[in-house]
Amino acid sequence: MKIARFSRMGFILAAAGSAVGLGNIWKFPYIAGENGGGAFVLIYLITVLAIGFSVMIAEMLIGYMGRLDSVGSFEKLAPQNKGTWKFAGFIGFTGILILTFYSVVIGWIFHYISVALVALPSSVEEAEQSFTQLLQADIGTQLFYHTLAFLSITLVVVKGIKSGIEKMNYILMPTLIIMLIGMFLYAMSLDAFSQALEFMFVPDWSKINSESLVVAVGHAFFTLSLGMASILTYSASLPKTVNLTKTSLIIVGLDTGIAIIAGLMLFTFLFQYGAEPSKGPGLVFISLPAVFYEMGSIGTLLAVIFFVGLAFAGLTSAVSLLEPMVQYLIDRYKYSRLKASFLAGNFFYIIGIFALLSNTQAYSELLTFGSRNLFDWIDFITASVLLPLGGLLISIFIGYVVPKEQVRAALHSSMTDMGFAIWYFFLRYIIPPALIIVMFNLLNVF
Ligand code: PFF
Repeated sequence: MKIARFSRMGFILAAAGSAVGLGNIWKFPYIAGENGGGAFVLIYLITVLAIGFSVMIAEMLIGYMGRLDSVGSFEKLAPQNKGTWKFAGFIGFTGILILTFYSVVIGWIFHYISVALVALPSSVEEAEQSFTQLLQADIGTQLFYHTLAFLSITLVVVKGIKSGIEKMNYILMPTLIIMLIGMFLYAMSLDAFSQALEFMFVPDWSKINSESLVVAVGHAFFTLSLGMASILTYSASLPKTVNLTKTSLIIVGLDTGIAIIAGLMLFTFLFQYGAEPSKGPGLVFISLPAVFYEMGSIGTLLAVIFFVGLAFAGLTSAVSLLEPMVQYLIDRYKYSRLKASFLAGNFFYIIGIFALLSNTQAYSELLTFGSRNLFDWIDFITASVLLPLGGLLISIFIGYVVPKEQVRAALHSSMTDMGFAIWYFFLRYIIPPALIIVMFNLLNVF
């Protein structure tokens, strides 16, 4: 049973902290770069507005009405079919899978804070070499920082919703936003800013294929933290007086705004110094450090701010990935928070070690299956398959399973009749078919 509740502001910061993460600053710019920029950004923005926003309200509603962990909330809201629908609650497990690689990447970021403080690489070649060395050969450093990430994430969750998660977001989120705005203003003063604007907003449709579509939709879910019960679990601790539509809009707005600001800033820095925008996952770890070096002493300062900000963004999301499973273990099995956090935490920590090893030269052969290694498989399956599937279940559940009057009553002070009619129509007739079509596209990708 839950006792501690978020304050309204605490909830907004925690949900925005969950949404704004490595997805916005690390992943979005590099997948936009790989998929040709503008056209991809447009598909992503349309998905965020047409699908993400509506699913966000629906997912919030399940927690808000259910007031329990994800499995318990699904059961409670479908009393006639609880045996079946409780399985939808297991979408909370996706978070643990995401955390396996998410924690490894937070580890890389910790390492790069020390790189920024000690000595930045002096050229792209050198930067590429040291990132490759870290990933493929330096198991010790990666393990050390993955362990540090695991401990930081788990210990915050041990402290609970109020004095762990809410408090952390109260400190880290405003700091992150100030850091990003400061760096963005600096980027705006550089010549290459207009080039970055063009890259992000002028669509080149020739670069789009069925894989880009799947990636864009998957990313919309990933970046908004939808489809895996993070938002649901947080909403179970939401004060009853909150306007869900307005709150969702703020979270979606903050998340999208920050992704665009981060993308524009990064591409400005890259273009200013003639670096490449399509470096893949290494974008912020290869091209960017070399660019910071070129900038001289202001570059060192920017590098430290950038990597510290990125670590903050990652940590506030990571706690929201762990919380659903922890809340489930507490509600269902009456575990203490300490025991539940370490049980769920150890799970991602250990699989994370295998994900980490799958990038290394020594173990990559052993841990590569078909076209991808373990690390890439977990990333791909969670973002492109499990999160859209979670979104589909949530839409069907609120659109078809929970009685309409009950849904309307819960949204009584959050939506006008007209707003409700449009939202409900989307949830029933637009989102499920759209997600099914996207998932069919997956067949071309495998
Ligand atoms: N939204 C986070 C990001 O963009 O990095 C990642 C994430 C957190 C995904 C929580 C899913 C989730 F439930």
